[in-house]
Amino acid sequence: MVPNVQDVINDKRAAACYGGEMMNWSLSNFGKNYSQHTGINELMDDLGTAMSGRKTYRMLGGGNPAHIPALEAVWRSAWTQIADTPEHLERVLGNYDTPQGNPDFLEALATSLSVRYGWRLGPEHIAVVNGSQNAFFYLLNMFQRKSSGDEPAEVLLPLAPEYIGYADQLLPGTCFRAIPPTLELLGDHRFKYHIDFDQLHLRGTTSAICVSRPTNPTGNVLTNEEMHRLNALAAEAQIPLIVDNAYGAPFPDIIFNGATPLWTEHTVLVMSLSKLGLPGTRTGIILGPPELIRAVAGMNAVVGLANGNIGQAIATPLLHDGRLYDMSQQVIRPFYEQKSRQAMAWLDDALTDSLPYRIHVSEGALFLWIWMEDLPISSRELYQRLKQRGVLVVSGHYFFYGLESPHPHANECLRLSYAQGDNVVQEGVAILAEEVAQAYANG
Ligand SMILES: Cc1ncc(COP(=O)(O)O)c(C=O)c1O
Repeated sequence: MVPNVQDVINDKRAAACYGGEMMNWSLSNFGKNYSQHTGINELMDDLGTAMSGRKTYRMLGGGNPAHIPALEAVWRSAWTQIADTPEHLERVLGNYDTPQGNPDFLEALATSLSVRYGWRLGPEHIAVVNGSQNAFFYLLNMFQRKSSGDEPAEVLLPLAPEYIGYADQLLPGTCFRAIPPTLELLGDHRFKYHIDFDQLHLRGTTSAICVSRPTNPTGNVLTNEEMHRLNALAAEAQIPLIVDNAYGAPFPDIIFNGATPLWTEHTVLVMSLSKLGLPGTRTGIILGPPELIRAVAGMNAVVGLANGNIGQAIATPLLHDGRLYDMSQQVIRPFYEQKSRQAMAWLDDALTDSLPYRIHVSEGALFLWIWMEDLPISSRELYQRLKQRGVLVVSGHYFFYGLESPHPHANECLRLSYAQGDNVVQEGVAILAEEVAQAYANG
């Protein structure tokens, strides 16, 4: 018999009364790992709440890309074309793809990248995953250290601070080792981190090197020379250099200093459709040797059968006619470069010369990284105070994991995104400046 609605409601109330909200089962270590507090969960929760419009926040927190009208018109028209082509929509919505990805998408991407960069690349070098975040969960856990022994394998992060989203992705038996940066002070209010190659030593326990380029959180872009040095280290140790190209060239190309992508036999290049403006399609892309690609496809099959195919269906014709690349260079890059300059100018005005702040040079991605030297409160406390005032940012301490000793910048930095509307960013920056001044004056 189908229960009536009131019975169901009463049942739920009864469940709540006798503690039905509490679970009687125990979580395994695997389950516990993902139910504890993590920076990425806090960030995505803040982001989702702000973007849902249910609470009014100035969203300078997570990495949601901007809604750029010229791009949205392209997505709409690509979508309409899929819907209007006989059987196309039915195929996209009604069929599973192979675990490696949609064959038309793989072919279009391989061909267009080979033409652009002269890479010897075929579909067998590419796997699609459900977002590049998913790619890192696979990749950071999938390589073997060179030496034997009981110590954990380590993923080497050549430049701390590094992307918050890797921090909680390692399975037991692997850890991060991050190398503190060297610091270049530029003028009164700018600075830049560099890789400290003198401290960057690979060990037998190192299983992979991983960098984001452009770097999230700082907006740094490792130079071509730095990339070649990392590539040479990886080649010598026979381990992969995993490069997170979520903001990089050729799409979305949020790079302001002309740096070009590197893909070699020692490199695994990870790309994404998210920062083009398609994060909801969850489309990540891994470029690597065919043996690795087969392993990734196998993981996709076991973990999720296949990938979401809507992003691939939208992107395929835009790869064929080159529009995905043209839009990146002609629309996306200038859009973010202008927004970065504007946000920096607002910050300089609001923070004024009287405060000891420095902003990392902005060479790419969607973020500004602000260092407040000798800040009397922690960056976490500053995050909380800003949230109370309706401004979401990300506390700097989340980006300093894997270090052998604490870094002073962990408690003196904030990451803010400049991707949202100008009013939102300008108001957020003004409130941020008030809170920073207040913290320096009164703790
Ligand atoms: C550096 C970096 N890598 C990877 C990701 C994951 O993005 P997605 O899973 O949407 O491709 C992000 C998202 O913000 C990021 O900033």
